Amino acid sequence: MVSLSHEQARRVYDRIGSFQDSQAFYEDKAVELLLRNGRFEEAESVFEFGCGTGRFALNLFENYLDDKAKYCGHDVSPEMVRLANEKLASYSNRATVMLTVGGAPGAEPGEAYDRFVSNYVFDLLSDEDIKAVLVEAHRILRPEGILCLSGLSTGASLPTSLISGSLGLIQSLVPSLVGGCRPIDLMPYVENPQWKIEFHEKVSAFGVTSECVIARRV
Ligand SMILES: C[S@@+](CC[C@H](N)C(=O)[O-])C[C@H]1O[C@@H](n2cnc3c(N)ncnc32)[C@H](O)[C@@H]1O
Repeated sequence: MVSLSHEQARRVYDRIGSFQDSQAFYEDKAVELLLRNGRFEEAESVFEFGCGTGRFALNLFENYLDDKAKYCGHDVSPEMVRLANEKLASYSNRATVMLTVGGAPGAEPGEAYDRFVSNYVFDLLSDEDIKAVLVEAHRILRPEGILCLSGLSTGASLPTSLISGSLGLIQSLVPSLVGGCRPIDLMPYVENPQWKIEFHEKVSAFGVTSECVIARRV
């Protein structure tokens, strides 16, 4: 499985910048599922891995989070961190956005968050990175904390399978063309005794299949 290095991802997403938000046309269906099922109104603290432009965080602050809830986002791209800080400026007393070198959030304190979110990031990470990020997600979530993931997935019908197959092929040939993203299945990563699956659904928008997985920390 080909994936971008952290340095390549940084360069690609610095270049993509705010254009990332134009991907909403196929991403929003799965993210909506995540918002509807992630019980964010009960969360006091949310961590997001790969926060991009801060679009998701802004939506959380404006429509879901309690007045006192805090947010911390990590991203490997300085341009994304700049955009997210700009977008979240009016929540700067409760939002922190940090630039990383692409590793799992090993420096975050243990059992500090109620939600660990990552939207359309695992689909560009290596298998090794996904596993490392999940180890840290489990560590930094409080007991009963909730993991909320969405991303590109494999098609469930012939037409959507053809589209996800094509995306996978493009990603293996010219990964930067699709932001390093390829369709993956998240369930094999979370179907283990560390997580209790609370919600799992695949959705398609404009032929592109996405997946939403919500799991409670055991
Ligand atoms: C496809 S975009 C998704 C952005 C945002 N989550 C969204 O849904 O709009 C992927 C994001 O993950 C970031 N990213 C990629 N690899 C990363 C890594 N190893 N650590 C942290 N962020 C990463 C990119 O810079 C980019 O902002």
